[in-house]
Formats: sequence, structure tokens, C-alpha cells
Amino acid sequence: MLRSPRDFFQPLAIGAPEPLREIPVTPGRMIHFLNAANQKMVDRVPKMLKQVDILLGNLEDAVPTEQKVDARRGFIKVVKDNDFGSTGAWSRVNSLDSPWFLDDVTEYVAEIGNNLDVIMIPKVLGPQDIAFVDRLLAQLEARHNIAKPIMVHAILETGGGVAQVEEIALASPRLQGMSLGPADLAASRRMKTTRVGGGHPAYVVRTDPNLDNPEAERPGTQQDLWHYTMARMVDACVNAGALPYYGPFGDISDPIGCEDQFRAAFLLGCVGAWSLHPSQIEIARKVFSPDPTEVKMALKILDAIPDGSGVAMVDGKMQDDATWKQAQVMVKYARLIAERDPELASQYGID
Ligand code: GLV
Ligand code: MG
Repeated sequence: MLRSPRDFFQPLAIGAPEPLREIPVTPGRMIHFLNAANQKMVDRVPKMLKQVDILLGNLEDAVPTEQKVDARRGFIKVVKDNDFGSTGAWSRVNSLDSPWFLDDVTEYVAEIGNNLDVIMIPKVLGPQDIAFVDRLLAQLEARHNIAKPIMVHAILETGGGVAQVEEIALASPRLQGMSLGPADLAASRRMKTTRVGGGHPAYVVRTDPNLDNPEAERPGTQQDLWHYTMARMVDACVNAGALPYYGPFGDISDPIGCEDQFRAAFLLGCVGAWSLHPSQIEIARKVFSPDPTEVKMALKILDAIPDGSGVAMVDGKMQDDATWKQAQVMVKYARLIAERDPELASQYGID
């Protein structure tokens, strides 16, 4: 899979746009899933576009076989009929071995190639899958005179994918980011669960027995089944300049479990999560938007250390070059969110 660094940013087809040097960091707190074969969901699109950072046309799992073509054509129409503004236009296409993948990608580039930001590729097995999509997209972009490269997002949901996560992240300059796919990953690994993400009550570590009182109760603590995979995914993305996202949380009736899982991912470095139901949009917004108190603190740090070096005290806490960098990250991102979210803009004191 090794490519010469000199060739990495050469277009893979004559006439294709130049590959991106950097993946844009734009708000992606929630990737909202839409089945565009469902007219009731399509009717809500104009409202959705104001509420979500990314609207994704889903063509893969959860879309019944008989709706595959309608979901694709429906999403093409959604993109043509609506002004997405700064909302991301993404689609999850069918997997590379499916009978639909080729038409999904071919029709998308031909019809909405200049307005589709990201194609999400499910069930990625290794870097060869990304390389294949990379070349195919370049061919199609050249044919249809597309102005800028369509980015690619990999779902981490096979054992092979996890084993090669670093290589996947580095496989193409198009690689925008990755999401964890806990349902398919569980199946691929033969995990004994039936859930879509979240914890499991049997995945616990138990305290030692009390030798003086063997009958005493031994509390157990539930562990996070996904911690190892998430941490690897975050590091692989950071190393490649790509963005990590938590994937789906399937139990719509458990908003607390969902919020906890999203927050654990946020604390580890993820920038967003999927929303499968309107109720999860607000959860993702709450979790993945920087906290107003932290943003205000970051603004104070930037004031206290204007040139980014040296030491200063802010509210009794020591600040230096490293906390200045954290403050920069926080404020830059808060500004992007403030542009989309007037309520948070006023809480941040940014206008
Ligand atoms: C998502 O695609 C999953 O398999 O969890
Ligand atoms: Mg899946």
C-alpha cells in the first residue's frame, strides 16, 4: 500500500481535482440519518437542515432492499432541491461487495458531485478498500468536471478494519474521518451481544472477595466495551489529520445511556456522533458543543497570553504554551459552532 509521498497529492485520474491538503474542521456534532425513500422524512428536510450539522442520506443497512434505488434517487433530489448552506451533505452508500455500490457512487458523482461533501463507506476491511474508492472517485470526478474532491469517511466495523485502522486512516488524502460501527463490529468479532453500541451489564470487573467475610457482597463495575476500539480510532485519525466520530446508539428509549456514551467519546477526542432519531440531535448538540464555561475560560487564557508563550495565572490556575494551544482549539471551534447556533453564540459571548 505504500505510495511515494511525492505522488500522494497527485490526482488519481487525468482531469480530476487536486487532492485536499487538509481535512476541513467544520461542525459535525451530529450526523443525522435520513432515508430519502421515506416521503415523511423528506418533508422534514428544510427544518432538519437548520437543526443538524450534517444531513446524511442513508442507502445501506436499515434501508430495505426494495427501497435502495428510491433512497438514492430521493437523496439526489433532496440535495438538488435544498440549499444546504453550511450543513454537510453526506451519504452512506452500500458496501463495496453489494449490487448497489457502483450505481450509488456513479449516480451521485454524475448528479450531485459538486454538492456532495462526503461519502461514507461501510464495512471497510482494510486500506485497499479506500484505495479502490479513491481511484474510482477520481475517474468519475474527471468525467463530470467536479471542482473539488469528494471526501471519504470509513466506518470502523470489521475486525480486519480495526486491525488495520492506522493504514485505513492513511490510505488517501480524501479520508475525512471514521465512525465506530458497533453493531457490525460486534457481529464481525462474534461478540455475544445484540445491541447497537452502549454498555453491557455483564461486562464488569468485580472487586476481590473479602477473605474475612466470604459471603459479603462483591460490587462489580461496568466497563466500556468500546473503549479500546475508540481509542485506537481516535489515535489513527489524529495521526492522519482526520476526524473521529462515535457511531450509532441504537436504544432510542435510553437518552441517559446515549448521552453517557456520546460524552465518553467526546472526552476521548471524538467530534460528533450519529443521530438516528430526532431526539438524539439535542443529546449530541449538548455533548459535542464546547461548554460555555470552558469557552469563557479559553477566551481569558488567550487574553492573558496574547502571543502564545510564557506563563500567566488565570483564576488561580497556571497557564502556559500548552494550555494556550488548548484554548486556541476551543475558541476556534466555538466560533464555528456559534456561526450555526445563535443560542450557543450568546452563551459563549461570541458574536
Ligand atoms: C453501524 O453501521 C453499525 O454497524 O453499528
Ligand atoms: Mg453497520
